[in-house]
Amino acid sequence: MSKKSLWYPYAQMQGMKVENVVTGAEGVKLHFSDGTSVIDAVSSWWCVIHGYNHPELNNALQNQAEQFSHVMLGGLTHAPAQKLAQKLVEITPEGLNHVFFADSGSVGMEVATKMAVQYWHNKGVAGKQRFIALYRGYHGDTTGVMSLGDPEEGMHSLFKGFLREQIFVNPPTTWDGLSDPVTDEVAKLDLERAIRDLEEALQKHGHEVAAMVCEPLLQGAGGMKLYPPEYLRAARKLCDKYQVLLIIDEVATGFGRTGTFSAVDRVGISPDIAVYAKGLTAGYLGLSATMASTEVFEAFLGEDSDRAFMHGPTFMGNALACSVALKGIEIFARDDYLTKISTIESILRRELQGFKHEQVEEVRVLGAMAAIQVKDPKIFAGMQEFAAQNGVWLRPFVDVVYTMPPYIISEKDLVKICDTMKAWFK
Ligand SMILES: Cc1ncc(COP(=O)(O)O)c(C=O)c1O
Repeated sequence: MSKKSLWYPYAQMQGMKVENVVTGAEGVKLHFSDGTSVIDAVSSWWCVIHGYNHPELNNALQNQAEQFSHVMLGGLTHAPAQKLAQKLVEITPEGLNHVFFADSGSVGMEVATKMAVQYWHNKGVAGKQRFIALYRGYHGDTTGVMSLGDPEEGMHSLFKGFLREQIFVNPPTTWDGLSDPVTDEVAKLDLERAIRDLEEALQKHGHEVAAMVCEPLLQGAGGMKLYPPEYLRAARKLCDKYQVLLIIDEVATGFGRTGTFSAVDRVGISPDIAVYAKGLTAGYLGLSATMASTEVFEAFLGEDSDRAFMHGPTFMGNALACSVALKGIEIFARDDYLTKISTIESILRRELQGFKHEQVEEVRVLGAMAAIQVKDPKIFAGMQEFAAQNGVWLRPFVDVVYTMPPYIISEKDLVKICDTMKAWFK
């Protein structure tokens, strides 16, 4: 077997060795071919919220496969897609009444941006084809939404010239998930600065901007950065004032990660468009849901296809994926995941907040996420191997090591993750 036939993500393939061969997984554990096991502290890139090999999700998948696995949604429909759309409307922020399915977070975000551009076109407002996005943001690796990711960050900056140039603003940078930016003086100044920057960008570019796009409260791939709900509240008002749509990317935050089902539930706003993926199918199959307000949806109605949304991925509304998602949503409510997430948050705060080391810049906790940011990322060389030897799967990136565990994790396993993170610094 050629050693290089499989090209790995985000990796220099020269000299690349992947020795961790997964042969089985259940609960929070991954089992390797050498007989060892690790606790997956990062839920396979944040999606495996119910843990691995979940009997009920396995059953949902098998039952659906015995009926049919997939049919095109062009001219056909089926109960799993219809029921899932209905369910998502019920559990997401007020006003998001229409669901367009695609197959990944990136494509869900592509759908959202295309919708926003066509919305203004259909409304007869010309020239609104750019986006305001946040520094440190990440919305996927496809080329449309790559342009919305941080333009200075290495992974995307080399494509400058190829990507459409968007308008970037800095969100507030000082929030630990606890402090109140209205009473904390430093946080308050930072918040005011960020809102001013946003209003200036909207004043200058609003006429050419279709939507503002952001990850709510938690910027994941940009380094697990947090910003306070007040910023999003202000953003909602400013978007309305300058006639710009608000697209919220809940791909990583949706399904409870920050402590509420959608991160914007904590903020108390409704976006015009929101995108969900990852936790939706919890690692079983690719699926995303781009959800639009009635105002957006109705702009696409008309007598002929001129105003219609001309988009339709082959796997859109895949019946296996929709059936797993429906079962996952049922489990989320039945097993009171929001209480589990709140318990996880308390344990993470107890174990990690206040952790001090000369290399540690900041510790951040929000919901079922904790991150330790360091001064010099070089300190992480060898940490992944160290953690695996200690029975924990961690993957530091940029200048953070973080955990986003499956919500079914026990206190003992969660403490073990935290201990392993801290042990590296000793
Ligand atoms: C906020 C956010 N948006 C979009 C994406 C892209 O999702 P996918 O990898 O499913 O294409 C990610 C992936 O990490 C993400 O964190």
